Amino acid sequence: MQVLHSVAELRAALAARRGTRGFVPTMGALHAGHTALIDQSVADNDTTVVSIYVNPTQFDNAADLEKYPLTLEADQASAASHGADFVFAPNYAEMYPDGFSYRVDETAFSRELCGAHRPGHFTGVLTVVMKLINIVRPDVAYFGEKDYQQLELIRGMAEAFFLETEIRGLPTVREHDGLALSSRNLNLDAASREIAPRLHELIDSELTDEEVRARLGAEGFDVDYVESKYGRRFAAAKLGAVRLIDNVARNVAKQKGAGNQ
Ligand code: PAF
Repeated sequence: MQVLHSVAELRAALAARRGTRGFVPTMGALHAGHTALIDQSVADNDTTVVSIYVNPTQFDNAADLEKYPLTLEADQASAASHGADFVFAPNYAEMYPDGFSYRVDETAFSRELCGAHRPGHFTGVLTVVMKLINIVRPDVAYFGEKDYQQLELIRGMAEAFFLETEIRGLPTVREHDGLALSSRNLNLDAASREIAPRLHELIDSELTDEEVRARLGAEGFDVDYVESKYGRRFAAAKLGAVRLIDNVARNVAKQKGAGNQ
């Protein structure tokens, strides 16, 4: 596996490869959710590229960016052991030669759910993913359903801008107790880690959104939202400084008084 840091190097290396190309964009701190995406790409494609780039433009909170785990060496070893061919690990100057003066902005769905609580977040995500797709030019790009709103927005962007890359979503990978894997879980202290699985347990229950919200609040979460829509229930809540998100497929009949589906 080769680790490359510049767009020019990566493009030159990829030009020498034949066959299909899969792409797994990440911000590093790789866990089993990421490696499931890498495994799928390796199974589906002749070449797999994994990008590791903590994208500052998608952080609406400087402290969150500061605390984001950086584990580049372990990530490279993990990508290599799962069969990736290239790790692309650029820096800001390489990714943003324009200084972020050009942006991809979605003006409807990106304003809901996480977008309503993290202004500018999805503009940063869509902009960096558009750049990465244009650099890697993959046949298929793989994303986890844990970030369901992100996945749908990237799908919409690919369609709106006639990208030739297929956007493929894979199911959320969970710990034995239901907690969705996330790089941010590394920042949970022991007490928060104990109660963190309640987020999944409660959104997957038959309680109403309001009841889930109240329970989470009572158990120590600082809740951003619990909303059932588009056939799913979405939630985001903080434990201390760590923001957790999750979503589950939702059968309308499952929720009592299913008026807000
Ligand atoms: O899901 C993530 O890790 C990031 O939002 C992504 C898609 C790699 C863009 O920075």
